Amino acid sequence: MDRRSFLKNALIAGGCASLAGREIAALASAVPQQVAGAVSPAQIAAARFPKDFLWGMATSAYQVEGAWNTDGKGESIWDRWAHTPGKIRDGSNGDVACDQYHLYKEDISIMKRLNMKSYRFSTSWPRILPEGTGKVNQKGLDYYSHLADALLEAGIRPFCTIYHWDLPQALEDRGGWPNRDLAGYYADFAALLAKNLGDRITVWAPFNMPTDFTRGGYGTGGEPPGKANTDLFLKAAHTVNLAQGMAFRAIKAASSKATVGSAYGMEPVYPKTNSEADRAAAARYHAAHNLYSIEPAFHGIYPKAFIGEIPYEAMGFKPGDEKIMKVPLDWVGVHYYLRLIASDASNGAQPDLSSHDPYAQIRIELDNEGPKTDSGLEMWPHGLYDLMMQVSRDYDHPIIEITETGGVFMDAPDANGRVADLRRIEFYRQHLAELARAMADGARVRAYHAWSLLDNFEWGNGYTQRYGLTYVDFATQKRTIKDSGYWYGRVAAANRLDV
Ligand code: FCB
Repeated sequence: MDRRSFLKNALIAGGCASLAGREIAALASAVPQQVAGAVSPAQIAAARFPKDFLWGMATSAYQVEGAWNTDGKGESIWDRWAHTPGKIRDGSNGDVACDQYHLYKEDISIMKRLNMKSYRFSTSWPRILPEGTGKVNQKGLDYYSHLADALLEAGIRPFCTIYHWDLPQALEDRGGWPNRDLAGYYADFAALLAKNLGDRITVWAPFNMPTDFTRGGYGTGGEPPGKANTDLFLKAAHTVNLAQGMAFRAIKAASSKATVGSAYGMEPVYPKTNSEADRAAAARYHAAHNLYSIEPAFHGIYPKAFIGEIPYEAMGFKPGDEKIMKVPLDWVGVHYYLRLIASDASNGAQPDLSSHDPYAQIRIELDNEGPKTDSGLEMWPHGLYDLMMQVSRDYDHPIIEITETGGVFMDAPDANGRVADLRRIEFYRQHLAELARAMADGARVRAYHAWSLLDNFEWGNGYTQRYGLTYVDFATQKRTIKDSGYWYGRVAAANRLDV
């Protein structure tokens, strides 16, 4: 079972979307006082952000662009997967998605209106290199060039994630990420981007959530290409860690203005009991999930994610790889969605999630104390504080960008066309208050990207989960800024949360 399905199955679907407006307002105003894990009103009122703080929003190519076969774009593994019956919850796909390929100017004007300073988007590799290597599709490259120009004109920093999961199918046909050759192909693609766009784009994140897409795609099989084999996961993750280092150097060589960081999905993990075995299991999960690509970058080594020795042979590790992986990232990107509870599964306890592999043997559970979003995930703002302090301690206070946080709230336009998503406002207010506290305590956070600018194609969940600060009517492509979007826009203007 993949991580997303695991989480979904463990959760109760939220019923709050059907509450009347008045009840939602009462719920929202009740949140700070009564709900487990809620941040106090006093902390919210006191929160301040620096005047040059980069307020932003995030998306990814496959989730918003659409135009899946337009202007010479090649097929990606997500095209292939979503076109395969039974893979997506509502039978949908990203063929059209939010049609940002055609509507990017409208989307940029929404961000400008909301005082955004940074837009985190991703490039579609097969849009630019339909076969993954070789011939360049100029129209694909032009699209990102126009996007960068339009963002800069609107005063918004273009933040480019190079790879957000949509591998060219042609490269999957050559073995996908377990094939070590992909590290070189990927570095060439990164260099091509930096060479052509590096005069305008200066902020590059090689991969979105490297450990997740390699585990989901090759280890547990819940995501494309749907392979479930731990050794394939180990190889894929190693190729990606090599690719991260090689891309870092290739981008810097092609563009003197480039800064290269990351976009890691991290989950603070707490031991289920205070036993030594559970504490060790939590440490293994932290290493296997949170540190599996950051540790190779900063230190050239794998973290202690395994019971026993590091399985170098299964990874396809070669002498000298430690030097290839090691690069001084300019900044660290972190997503925060949830906290987890870990316990030991090494002596017969029923393992789950990560323990599909024989190397880590951990049982992972969600905690359930806090209120739930409409996907059933717990809201736990305090986890963001813990994560910021941990990354700051472990990596000597790097510059941090929050690359994503967000939640599913299914609020839709009312009779007047207004989307009163008050629970999303509360979600962000509390997470941001905890972020401000971490910054006051020394975390060097310079940017925050809300997931997401738009409701969009949420991978295996299709269009059944709305994460946007802008509502999208997928039948007409009409965008409606939600109350949370207007609120976030005021926060961005004021650098405080009591707006
Ligand atoms: C993150 C992904 C992003 C989106 C959000 C909800 O893990 O990076 O694409 O799906 O979850």
